[in-house]
Amino acid sequence: MRRLRVLPAFALVLGWGCSQPTGPEHPIEGKRLYDQYCARCHGVDGVPTKEAPTASSFADPQVVERLSDESIKGVIRGGKGQMPGFGDRFTDGTLQVMVAYLRRLPGSGGEAPAEPAVE
Ligand code: HEC
Repeated sequence: MRRLRVLPAFALVLGWGCSQPTGPEHPIEGKRLYDQYCARCHGVDGVPTKEAPTASSFADPQVVERLSDESIKGVIRGGKGQMPGFGDRFTDGTLQVMVAYLRRLPGSGGEAPAEPAVE
């Protein structure tokens, strides 16, 4: 399967500072897309903003794990509840980049449980 090439570990190794995008599957592209189109409601770290308090929290691993790739793509295309759909604005490849990025959000900040505190 070629779909899951943007693995979290891979993304971590690359880090955020890399300035050489190699193509649409690059993780940085995922962040750029997410920050531009989704963060207004879902928050840069996945925690819903004041503007859209009912938006799903992607900082919660259970929310992200519950959703299949296809259902996430479906919501982006068609919208859900108060979320407007983006229709055909994104190609399937671009949607896949966003899905991969969403799956990295839990634990990257926000309210997701991190390492247990050292006492
Ligand atoms: C205008 C605000 C807004 C924007 C922009 C927005 N969303 Fe949403 N999103 C919402 C709200 C509100 C919900 C909750 C819908 C509901 O369940 O009623 C939601 C739900 C979702 C869900 C469903 C989660 C679940 O638990 O079923 C996914 C996936 C999602 N959004 C992804 C995205 C992505 C990816 C983007 C960017 C391409 C995006 N959203 C942009 C407001 C927004």
